[in-house]
Amino acid sequence: MSFEDTDMDIIEEQIKKISRMLVNAKHAVVFTGSGISVASGIPTFRGADGLWMRWNPEEVASIYGFKRNPAKFWEFAKELIVKAKASPNPAHYAIAELEEEGVVKAVITQNIDMLHQSAGSKKVLELHGSMSYVDCLECGKEYDWEYIEEILKKKQPVCEVCGSELLKPRVVFFGEPLPPDVLSEAMEESRKCDVFIVVGSSLVVYPAASLPEIAKRSGAKLAIVNLEPTEKDHIFDAVAYGKAEEILPQVVEEFKRLRR
Ligand code: APR
Ligand code: ZN
Repeated sequence: MSFEDTDMDIIEEQIKKISRMLVNAKHAVVFTGSGISVASGIPTFRGADGLWMRWNPEEVASIYGFKRNPAKFWEFAKELIVKAKASPNPAHYAIAELEEEGVVKAVITQNIDMLHQSAGSKKVLELHGSMSYVDCLECGKEYDWEYIEEILKKKQPVCEVCGSELLKPRVVFFGEPLPPDVLSEAMEESRKCDVFIVVGSSLVVYPAASLPEIAKRSGAKLAIVNLEPTEKDHIFDAVAYGKAEEILPQVVEEFKRLRR
């Protein structure tokens, strides 16, 4: 890399590096965060216009805050819900294509928007759950997300069986454990992969953020595609600063060119 290299040259070089990693990979794993869904209209949590700049996570995303004031959570969720009707973007499709090509064996995501599945990814490990179902914490009644979303357009949802306000979506709130089976499978995938690619995550929330190191310790090659630097960039073999929705399709193009 010489001084006159432009940012574009540097990104090009990293894209080539990531594609070469994938061509030689036997078991690649992709790990995603909220940054991959920005192009689908869903805001990130941190960074410039992140949700945590406008909402207090302790109040709207912790189990204590939720039990204290579920209405506050549902007000916050409205911002996500409208967005969560979003559709996958080229970054999600690129990852699904790499699974189709047989090189990506699993997606480990911190996201709750189910966009990987909508893009066609088959093996998706949702570390923080998803907005698929809503459970009444008092009587256990289960509701489909879509059903609750309809109600939320008009008012705060309450349980139709017992009247409780404590209707909680099946996402992992701060202060709650991650689903043990999903976490152990994600750790297993991180141990056995030979390529681990992070897309759109600030890598600050544990235990999710420990997975890249687990992969590294197991001898995997690491790559990260992120808009901004993270604290962990130094452990990566390839670092591409930019938008996932622009970079990942180029990685797939180069991967297919090399595989010909
Ligand atoms: N392409 C790639 N990366 C992007 C893009 C983009 N278009 N836009 C933003 N980013 C990057 C940001 O630079 C940031 O580093 O995505 C990252 C998103 O970081 P966070 O908002 O912290 O999201 P995430 O890492 O998923 O947060 C982890 O924190 O609040 C909890 O449970 C929540 O799952 C979430 C967890
Ligand atoms: Zn109930």
